[in-house]
Amino acid sequence: MNYTEAKAKLDARHQGHLLQFYDSLSDTEQYQLLEQIDALDFHLLDVFSAYQGEKEKSKGLLAPLGALTCQEIQQNQQKFDSAGLDAIRQGKVGAVLLAGGMGTRLGSDKPKGMYNIGLTRPLSIFECLIQNLMQVVDKAGSFVPLFIMTSEKNDEITRDFFEENKYFGYNAEYVHFFVQEMAPAVDEQGKILLEEKGRIATSPNGNGGWFISFARAGLLNLVQREEIEWLNVFAVDNVLQKIADPSFLGATILSGCESGSKVVRKADAQERVGVLCLEDGKPSIVEYYEMTEDMINSREPDGTLSYNYGVILNYLFRTDRLAELMQHELEMHVVHKKVSYIDENGNLIQPEEPNAYKFETLVLDMIHLQENCLAYEVEREKEFAPVKNAHGTDSVDTARELLQRNGIVL
Ligand code: UTP
Repeated sequence: MNYTEAKAKLDARHQGHLLQFYDSLSDTEQYQLLEQIDALDFHLLDVFSAYQGEKEKSKGLLAPLGALTCQEIQQNQQKFDSAGLDAIRQGKVGAVLLAGGMGTRLGSDKPKGMYNIGLTRPLSIFECLIQNLMQVVDKAGSFVPLFIMTSEKNDEITRDFFEENKYFGYNAEYVHFFVQEMAPAVDEQGKILLEEKGRIATSPNGNGGWFISFARAGLLNLVQREEIEWLNVFAVDNVLQKIADPSFLGATILSGCESGSKVVRKADAQERVGVLCLEDGKPSIVEYYEMTEDMINSREPDGTLSYNYGVILNYLFRTDRLAELMQHELEMHVVHKKVSYIDENGNLIQPEEPNAYKFETLVLDMIHLQENCLAYEVEREKEFAPVKNAHGTDSVDTARELLQRNGIVL
């Protein structure tokens, strides 16, 4: 794309300011900016206008969905474990670590997985997760292929970190990195931001982007070639979670469901967590802010909350179904976050408060595309220690405490 074409493309959508510093750029910078403009997807601007007009997709008919409870799991423990371990030994299971996020709330400029959660020794979040997975590998006697999603912002540093640390004892042949796509950020008026004079501000396009990027990287072919039937998709920031958990796998396989989701019992009606329920008869995750007061407080005859099971971003998907799902587009969410930008005078502004909107698809929306989903209850004290913030709720402090309570020396 040349300058005149770029200008015409931008002017048509009132985004001409992106070329404001063009004359001051080097040849390479000019070329790179024109490339970025060429790739710009203006569909996102329509999503933003719809969002401003509050035209986000409304929910269908919602109904509660029960879970396989901890007690029921305990009663069938051996059966579930052995079905899950069999699947792992037969090479039918892979795991997908979503590590493309920016972790802005944590406030570190490094990938979240590199954060040192140790107190008396270095223990990164990545190492914690690999140790959790190694427990299963040791039990099964075979490695689980691990696919790690990064973004262009943290790919190199993440790969180097694994390399330098010798994959924390994991077999590197079983580790595959792939990079997710980016999306531009806009300000309150819908103007696309610059992060440098010659660079549009972009950020990873949400954890729902994992599947498209996975397929584009050729990994769906690998999965099909190696006959991997299940993928356990999990977040980087829950340091206590079990990965490729044989019991979760076994229970899901034996249930005949095509997907599974680990859930925790809500601490109280008001807890701000997405709940797994039914929407128009299909599994669906509804965010706490999408629930009416009636739904939040609704109780079953035994007194338990009707919408009682919160998701913890640990899912099982059947790979043959995922390949079919490629036909569907996931809903694009608009999220309010902090984004550094270049103002009209060419100064770099680093905001203290959310100032911009990013565009993200979410892995939780993939659940609604499934025919069914097994809700598998886990004890939050044993399996849910999210690291979102430096201090306070869901923080490094709370995660450290939970790790120590579970016997991990920090
Ligand atoms: P969060 O929703 O907590 O987002 O991600 P984040 O970017 O890590 O953190 P904040 O909101 O900026 O503080 C949940 C999981 O999804 C991954 C994250 O790495 C984390 O494992 N994720 C999120 C991606 O892989 N890509 C994304 O684009 C967004």
